[in-house]
Amino acid sequence: MQRAFMVDQNGPPQLRVDQVPALAAVAFAEAGLRFDEEKLDFLQARLGQRVLHSRAGSFRSYIDLIERDDEERQHFVEALTVHTTSFFREDAQYNWLRDFGLPELTQHKNDIMLWSAACSTGQEGWTGLMVAEAYRTASGQNFTCRLIGTDISTAVLAQAARAVYCQQDMDSVSASHRNAFFLQARNRDGRCRIIPELRSRAEWQRGNLVSGMGLSGIKADVAFLRNVLIYFNSETKTKVINRVVDGIRPGGFLLTGHSETGFKHPDLTAVQPSIYQKACGS
Ligand SMILES: C[S@@+](CC[C@H](N)C(=O)[O-])C[C@H]1O[C@@H](n2cnc3c(N)ncnc32)[C@H](O)[C@@H]1O
Repeated sequence: MQRAFMVDQNGPPQLRVDQVPALAAVAFAEAGLRFDEEKLDFLQARLGQRVLHSRAGSFRSYIDLIERDDEERQHFVEALTVHTTSFFREDAQYNWLRDFGLPELTQHKNDIMLWSAACSTGQEGWTGLMVAEAYRTASGQNFTCRLIGTDISTAVLAQAARAVYCQQDMDSVSASHRNAFFLQARNRDGRCRIIPELRSRAEWQRGNLVSGMGLSGIKADVAFLRNVLIYFNSETKTKVINRVVDGIRPGGFLLTGHSETGFKHPDLTAVQPSIYQKACGS
């Protein structure tokens, strides 16, 4: 059968190596993401279906489309971002939060704001809220803890707000946290949902760490900026760290991924290898 555009009978249009720079330029301008020719297979795998779905017909036309169409550009970014996350990921940081971070912060204030700055499907932020709530109960301290989660991808934000997780997601949650902070699905299929009390203390909104879109006005006591800096070049990394540090209250903390360390910021002091404190007077 003749078709108006070139589609391989066996699948989506094929990306050519000389088309990678144009795609990479849009990914960089939109989200700070870096791609080169070595990522050809990744780009093909992530974007092939998008090219078909958008009816662009070829990667050449798709490049034109994402350059002029905001909505498709958002789909493009969604297709390229990696959303791997889990509850209690890099759990030493949550232990630190319980044993040192929260005791210090709650000495002086009773409203604690957590910010999960590339929150993906929500597990990082929900873990922070669970840890804070468990600490509040155990310590008898009188404070409330709220959460803001931001991400460039609207698809993951919708999942974070829904707060429903499958059995596999729950593997890293202890029985005591499960009992205290999750409701079981009625049909007992293993799915669990964060309890309404925690859900009422969380907000999820689109925010771009590179452009700053959606991030103004955030003031947090603890900012999680984990497993996202690895996608940026050093200039973008510096810009993003400056932006997130601006969103931390004096005396508050920045938590990065364990491999995302070794940077300097005039207002930050390293407390542990991937935990930094913002100076009190800044
Ligand atoms: C690997 S996940 C990390 C999730 C979580 N922070 C963790 O450590 O488990 C990376 C997240 O960064 C988001 N992301 C990528 N570029 C971004 C940008 N420019 N602004 C905001 N979020 C971005 C992706 O959509 C994705 O959800």
